[in-house]
Amino acid sequence: MLNPTEISYDPSRILGQHLPQAGLSALGPALQQARQVVGDDVALWESGAPVPADQQPLDAGFIHLPQRTLDDYRQDRSGSELGRILQTAERLCDQVDTVVVTGIGGSYMGPRALFEACCHPYHNQLSREARDGRPRLFFAGDNVDNDALAGLLDLLREGRWDHPTDRWGVVVISKSGGTLETAVAFRLLLDALAHRGGGHLAELSDLIIPVTGPSGKLFDLAQAVGCPDRFLIPDGVGGRFSLFTPVGLLPAAILGLDVVALLEGAVAMNERFWQADPADNPVLQYVAVCHWMEVEQGRDVRVLSTWGKLLEAVGLWYDQLLAESLGKQERGALPLTVVNTRDLHSRGQQHQEGPRDKLITNLIVDQVRRDPLRISHSDLNQDALNELAGKSLPDIMQAALQGTNLAYEEDQRPTADIHLPRLDEESLGQLLQMLMLATVVEGRLIGINPYGQPGVEAYKRHMNEFLRG
Ligand code: PA5
Repeated sequence: MLNPTEISYDPSRILGQHLPQAGLSALGPALQQARQVVGDDVALWESGAPVPADQQPLDAGFIHLPQRTLDDYRQDRSGSELGRILQTAERLCDQVDTVVVTGIGGSYMGPRALFEACCHPYHNQLSREARDGRPRLFFAGDNVDNDALAGLLDLLREGRWDHPTDRWGVVVISKSGGTLETAVAFRLLLDALAHRGGGHLAELSDLIIPVTGPSGKLFDLAQAVGCPDRFLIPDGVGGRFSLFTPVGLLPAAILGLDVVALLEGAVAMNERFWQADPADNPVLQYVAVCHWMEVEQGRDVRVLSTWGKLLEAVGLWYDQLLAESLGKQERGALPLTVVNTRDLHSRGQQHQEGPRDKLITNLIVDQVRRDPLRISHSDLNQDALNELAGKSLPDIMQAALQGTNLAYEEDQRPTADIHLPRLDEESLGQLLQMLMLATVVEGRLIGINPYGQPGVEAYKRHMNEFLRG
């Protein structure tokens, strides 16, 4: 029976048509084998035994982390990692009205995805009261764009520092602690903070919350500044898999999101992944469809088609996850996030009539959070909308989705659906864990190590050569 809080994956328009039942069944053993390898990865990681050179890097630590974090929290509400995260978040809410989350890649996309999906779409523009006392949240360190950061610094210089609603803090996130974009933005933010606070950074150290690995430049800097609250990104969790560590949990807690529900969603997806047969397993089904369409039909562009504006950053998070995990050895599908209905007016033409290289996965939220807005009846009917009077925006969205799926189907363009019952923390926890698991399973299926991103190092090396001579 369908659980109303479970997310679901529905490839029914693909099965039988593009992917014959026999093909799917034939993939079953390979999928189970890939799941087994992922299980062996977890066991090896958790055993603490040395990881053989040919299996490195091995960042399987993310998989059971949500359960462990919850267990620790339930045993010790204040002393556990999650307890400390919640206390720090509350303290920061009392002290400041703006938080700048500083980071890039996995240290940025996850927090941004949670912020955009779960918060009011105009959170930063709302009064403090309407934000329930939660700070405004800005991102920095995700670029070295001069004018963008200068613009943020303009904002941060406004007002009177002795006024609580003009005070701000920084959550700086870097697993390695040495990423240049993050380090540069952080240095400039520290300068600005010291300036605001009368030049005494030491007195402001509680407004700076570092989230980093167990060693590195940021770790050392945090120590030198004397930041009282620091959080660890544990070993064995790669940047793009770090959403359920303090990387995602601290910004989420600052925003007042239900971090327990987020973790419970991830745990629920783990249970389905480990226990369900391939035919009922959203992770394995998703991998089967993506893999088959790429290998058998050459559809190596994976379009994540989000229906609604609030899931765009989730799509961008997934772009990084897939691209950095499987884009290796001249292989790996190309991820592409679109936001509908917006992009029906830009990319839609190509998806309907361009090369047959795309698999489209719709990301659909079944129930809106707010009361549906309806078209009114008007004496001014020049727009001819009176015949739609009474229809709601969700009705129109549904018609656009059905119409688009049908148009693609009529031209043999494959589409599948991921349904989220609601856009909330529990659904997101399931979805994000599903996509992370699917990525590592697919890596194991095709013999690519999904962890690490060796290809990102070359640009960093050259950039440093140009900078440092
Ligand atoms: O997935 C990864 O590990 C990378 O994309 C990192 O998230 C990104 O490079 C940022 O690294 P760091 O958190 O070390 O600053």
